[in-house]
Amino acid sequence: MGRLVIVSNRVAVPKRGEPAAAGGLAVALKDAFSSRGGLWFGWSGTASPEPADMVRHARRAGVDYAVIDLSQAAYEGFYAGYANSALWPMFHFRLGLLSYDRDQAGCYRQVNQRYAEKLMPLLRPDDTIWVHDYQMIPLGAQLRAMGAKQRIGYFHHIPFPPWAVFAAMPGAEDLIRDLLSYDVVGVQTNRDLTGLIDCMAQGTGMKVRPGPEVRLRGRRVQLRAFPISIATEEFSDLAARSVNSADAKRLEASLAGRAMVIGAERLDYTKGLPERFRAFAALLEHFPEHRGQVTYLQVAARSREDVESYKDLKREIETLTGQINGDWSDADWTPVRYVGRAVPRDTLAGYYRMAKVGLVTPLRDGMNLVAKEYVAAQDPENPGVLVLSKFAGAAEGLPEALLVNPIDAVGMAETMHAALTMGLDERRERHGAMLRRLQEHDVGAWAKGFLDVLEGREPANSAPE
Ligand code: G6P
Repeated sequence: MGRLVIVSNRVAVPKRGEPAAAGGLAVALKDAFSSRGGLWFGWSGTASPEPADMVRHARRAGVDYAVIDLSQAAYEGFYAGYANSALWPMFHFRLGLLSYDRDQAGCYRQVNQRYAEKLMPLLRPDDTIWVHDYQMIPLGAQLRAMGAKQRIGYFHHIPFPPWAVFAAMPGAEDLIRDLLSYDVVGVQTNRDLTGLIDCMAQGTGMKVRPGPEVRLRGRRVQLRAFPISIATEEFSDLAARSVNSADAKRLEASLAGRAMVIGAERLDYTKGLPERFRAFAALLEHFPEHRGQVTYLQVAARSREDVESYKDLKREIETLTGQINGDWSDADWTPVRYVGRAVPRDTLAGYYRMAKVGLVTPLRDGMNLVAKEYVAAQDPENPGVLVLSKFAGAAEGLPEALLVNPIDAVGMAETMHAALTMGLDERRERHGAMLRRLQEHDVGAWAKGFLDVLEGREPANSAPE
């Protein structure tokens, strides 16, 4: 079997002598990389003032990394511009936030073209290439144009809307046609698969056959849902350890016996933060028994701070925090604790375990791994309750969570109240069902599932309708 080549916009090269990053794709790919070797290619995360053209190589724990910087102009046009001011809002159904600029769209294609040119000489004939996410949609077609014959798969980590939404993007047909160069196009959920099939049919005018798949020039493009997951056992162990850490003990002492509800994500308008803050205020208003008794800890990691809509959101959250605390605080109780930066993963795992309620209420989300991590982090004997938006991909696989519509503040307040007052038996039952599913379908199973289809090892009877 040939190497596995991963292409993703962000590549975190582990520091020498340190283990690979504990979360995300690095964990998912560990098994595949260790059995067959691999190359991980993408952006270093650095925007450099100079024209950036050098590929830097590193080898860590059997994996080759090849990373490239973005020039400042490419960072602005490709990353902050087209990818995160046009594609990101469109894919999350937020057409009102879509800001399109033809030069930025051109820059997106140029950056992908440069990635393709730098990657091409590093490829071997028997490699399998797996491209990740919306920053890289044209890459497959660009590699094919340079003669790449390898199997190439694409996985889309964020929602896939139907054509009625997608078509609002200038050049929508080109983006959809780019997907035809992949052998497999994977999305997170059945809902996304419906969107993808609709876009394929309407955007290309081609027939989507059962499978589902599209055939062209003797090749087939398989379309499938592969819900991503987490390293469940590892995260459960981490949470069980971290809950006894000094950080967690300090937090526990500061709560003075009050219940804690927790939210944690990047500061992104897709995550439904203002809506969640208003719902928490509605909880205090409509259910007076929680006043002085519940503390809401919100961790919001800074993200894409050069994009205007993210700056607006930051100001809005700061205002809401001030308002709610001004309205409801006592001298010895602050209802909302807002931490506006990332918290280390192990510390967060301990916090999740301490929280009676996990609030994961995005307006739209591809999957949302915080929902899965919150479940994995709980003490099975005395678990907390997950309040989950029905618009998160995770809701499809976690029906035992308390599902909410995040724009209904009072409805969410009622659900938070139900979560805070739920009895032990019901908590255990709901949590047990979710945890078992996460243990069976962890991130390793996700990666294997995708690669099995991409490399033709899929059992004949497992194709979804
Ligand atoms: C989402 C996207 C990823 C992206 C991540 C962080 O999860 O699906 O592709 O890498 O957000 O965003 P950033 O812009 O910092 O890479």
